[in-house]
Amino acid sequence: MSNPFKYGGIVNKGSFCNRKQELKDLSRAMENGDRLFLYSERRLGKTSLVKLALSRLPKKEYLYAYVDLWPTDGEASFAVAVAKAVTESLASTADKMLAVGKSFFGGLIPTITADSSGDPQISFTLRGDGKNAPELLDVLKAPGEIAKRRNRKVVMVFDEFQRILEYGSDKTERTLRSAIQDQENVSFVFLGSRKHLIQKMFLDQNRPLYRAGGHYPLGPIETRAWLPFIKSRFNKTGKTINSDIITRLCEISGGHPFYTQHLCHAVWEICEPGAEVTGETLDEAISLLLERESYAYTGLWESFAVNQRRFLSGLVQETSGAQVFGGAFVQKNNLNSASSVQRVVENLLDRDVIDREDGSFFIADRFFQLWVKKRVL
Ligand SMILES: Nc1ncnc2c1ncn2[C@@H]1O[C@H](COP(=O)(O)OP(=O)(O)OP(=O)(O)O)[C@@H](O)[C@H]1O
Ligand SMILES: [Mg+2]
Repeated sequence: MSNPFKYGGIVNKGSFCNRKQELKDLSRAMENGDRLFLYSERRLGKTSLVKLALSRLPKKEYLYAYVDLWPTDGEASFAVAVAKAVTESLASTADKMLAVGKSFFGGLIPTITADSSGDPQISFTLRGDGKNAPELLDVLKAPGEIAKRRNRKVVMVFDEFQRILEYGSDKTERTLRSAIQDQENVSFVFLGSRKHLIQKMFLDQNRPLYRAGGHYPLGPIETRAWLPFIKSRFNKTGKTINSDIITRLCEISGGHPFYTQHLCHAVWEICEPGAEVTGETLDEAISLLLERESYAYTGLWESFAVNQRRFLSGLVQETSGAQVFGGAFVQKNNLNSASSVQRVVENLLDRDVIDREDGSFFIADRFFQLWVKKRVL
């Protein structure tokens, strides 16, 4: 019997919990031809959600392209990644791909290769030295042209959008801003991590994409939705788990999809066939997970300065909403002053160790948070 909980990688319909409202909102945005920035902390389910929404679009009315920007590093690779995704979404044979490439991306040079299963793949290169990428605007205007010529709505998704902040110039952002302004029947959905998109793109009036679209924060999944999801997966595989334990598990994971699935995976492994999960099973699963991470977590801990360790140790003992810059917190944790806490917070935010929600802070990796808690207590 294989473990019914999946963590890491994209989850599809069979392993997807709830997100009904989010799916509805996304579909509406795609229907309306909106520009939407969807953001969350890491591994909260952005890619899975968008891919599910795309797969539900009626094929007769929509065309869509999903562009993963992770491997890109500048305007040139951005332009060819977009051209490739768009072409492959419109055609599946080599001849048709070349025809699409020629008709929409005439400024780029196409090459056809076969992937490991023998299916054709197209890639593009720029004609010039790639430095100025004059083709970028043309590439970004192609979706509107496709919508017109094929008489369909087009949805463009850019995943890992925060990558463009590392391109070294804001040309891509500027070109995007003008390209997305006036394309009819095309919706643009940008996915990215909260910290980058929020701080650098929405709040900064000097950035080209400031207020260029709506923004949509993605949060954790409620315990109410996890209860039937987790319970049925145990039941279907001949094991049982009661609501109290699921509730406790969700409190520990904060309802964060990745950590919830990971913890369920571990609990399921430990639970004997036909048995019921007990509080001890859950504790054992947590210890096991922390043990597996212990080497990495110890290394991370040792990389922190004394003040940073004091701050984190203090943080895990507080309830959410704690005033970490307040005198009480500073004194209790031997942190010298509010300004030294400020420095610690800035550094830890920068390293993605902590994250901010409604003005309070928490350790981003929920298992590392448990590890620190165990150390302190
Ligand atoms: N709706 C869901 N139901 C159940 N599990 C989910 C759901 N969404 C995400 N997950 C869990 O979270 C993990 C990460 O999902 P996904 O890769 O979609 O997140 P992401 O936000 O795109 O991550 P990243 O920030 O790394 O790009 C999945 O492997 C799965 O375990
Ligand atoms: Mg993702």
